[in-house]
Amino acid sequence: MINLIKVKDYEEASDKAFEVMKKFIEPGKVLGLATGSTPLGLYQRMVKDHKENGTSYKQIKSFNLDEYVGLPITHPESYYAFMHRNLFDHIDIPEENTHVPSGLGEDLEAQARHYDEMIAESPVDVQLLGIGSDGHIAFNEPGTAFDSGTHVTDLAESTIKDNCRFFDNDITKVPTQAVTQGIGTIMKAKSILLIATGANKAQAVKDMIEGPIDEKCPASILQKHPDVTVIVDEAAASLLK
Ligand code: GLP
Repeated sequence: MINLIKVKDYEEASDKAFEVMKKFIEPGKVLGLATGSTPLGLYQRMVKDHKENGTSYKQIKSFNLDEYVGLPITHPESYYAFMHRNLFDHIDIPEENTHVPSGLGEDLEAQARHYDEMIAESPVDVQLLGIGSDGHIAFNEPGTAFDSGTHVTDLAESTIKDNCRFFDNDITKVPTQAVTQGIGTIMKAKSILLIATGANKAQAVKDMIEGPIDEKCPASILQKHPDVTVIVDEAAASLLK
């Protein structure tokens, strides 16, 4: 069941997302975290709330969705570095409680299986998601099996182009593969919070909410999840009936 919340713009979407997220920031909870420009406003609000109200993350665990293959964690565009720069370094979550899949190693598939095992031991209470312009969630591109676990994947051409802006607008610098939680992994989260803003997400939002449940739009599987909140701004909602 998708609970759709329409707001005006990015700032309001971030406010609303923080309102939802805040309920999960308590001892023992497991947060599923995401990267991209979409969650930045939410992360700023989490940091502000931690600094001003002392909300603590000491007894919270986190699991991130994905990571580029081949980028060392010291690379500023690695999702590990992104999470530290935008959230972890500004709150009191212990480093050992945070998990970002590794895109480096001898046997990425074995590491991916281990990642799923860790999540199975600490089920995610709320999974934060953005959406790709092609309807992808995490790095599950169109055609990914709905029951997939964490795995290595090739990025779609459109995703490589979308993410070019983070790599000096040089397409040759964008990694072409990633490790990603599978759709099956994501669907195990008890609640899901997806934020979509901007006109370039309008078609993906329409397909996710009004389209058939089809692997062509990975996010459409969320229609089957029992507890999903989708926050959209006016631009992202512009194609909805
Ligand atoms: C990447 C990430 C996704 C994210 C998407 C949208 O592909 N792997 O998790 O949702 O980008 O990014 P943005 O929020 O910058 O539009």
